[in-house]
Amino acid sequence: ADSAQIRHFLRDDDLTSAEQAEVLDLAAAMKKDRFGYRPFEGPQTVAVLFDKPSARTRVSFHTGIGELGGLPLVVDNVSVLMGRGEPTADIARVLDRQVAAIVWRTTGQELIDEMAAHSRVPVVNALTDEFHPCQILADLQTVQEKLGRTAGVTLTYLGDGANNMAHSYLLGGATAGMHVRIAAPAGYQPDAVILDQAAAIAARTGGSVIALSDPVAAAQGAHVIATDTWVSMGQDGKEERVAALMPYQVNSELLEHAAPDAIVLHCLPAYRDYEITGEVLEGPQSVVWDQAENRLHAQKALLHWLVSHR
Ligand code: CP
Ligand code: NVA
Repeated sequence: ADSAQIRHFLRDDDLTSAEQAEVLDLAAAMKKDRFGYRPFEGPQTVAVLFDKPSARTRVSFHTGIGELGGLPLVVDNVSVLMGRGEPTADIARVLDRQVAAIVWRTTGQELIDEMAAHSRVPVVNALTDEFHPCQILADLQTVQEKLGRTAGVTLTYLGDGANNMAHSYLLGGATAGMHVRIAAPAGYQPDAVILDQAAAIAARTGGSVIALSDPVAAAQGAHVIATDTWVSMGQDGKEERVAALMPYQVNSELLEHAAPDAIVLHCLPAYRDYEITGEVLEGPQSVVWDQAENRLHAQKALLHWLVSHR
């Protein structure tokens, strides 16, 4: 195939609003007929590479690729592949002659951009410092299941507004036509460029995006309350972060300001009594286990979609 036609999923806005809806519909269909789709029958191999720890992403890609009839090649410590100082571009050109897709969890977005630029098979972002787009697909599937829609839904994310989850909620949520509110203190606000890009998407989809500092105002009437760890992989300065972010904790008091039937999302792993209390995480409004399961269905749909759009 011509590499110009290859579709990658490096950030949430690599799918248009209509394409994102197609992937989510496929994810719902695959959830109902889990073993009915075999695009990787052969079997074709899909490489799944990790530069950082993972439980959910690792298990869901490994399981999902198998269910799609393929062979997962999971490499946990990427230094086994690239530890000799080999350029990412060279690895891309070795892998793409053998595998059907490349899934990579790494640090800087520029690394996965480089992989994609040199790959003739789809490259999927399994989390970078900047974005976590596969997680947002699962979150959107969960919102669709629980609330019956994504467009018009108000999602409030509280905590580190500058991390991968916050940025992916902005782009992916705006693509889905959601009203995305990010509540974070000074120094933890979203990247201004990404906020602008999300606002431009929202203007087309009927959604909106806003960054706020008042957690109560941000939670007011929200249909979805979301949070994430205050210390992402590779970050330090835990004490300082905890002190700054404690007012943004998702607890039962905060939840009272949201819509009465609001659902609570957390991509996991959760740090109880930091970004979320155990009471809320284990409470009736929490849907985190369905959310974690939906990683499987959403990523299977994404892979299927990507390999059939070249
Ligand atoms: N939510 C998520 O991506 O989990 P892992 O880091 O365990 O893969
Ligand atoms: N923001 C978190 C997400 C973990 C799934 C991190 O990058 O560590």
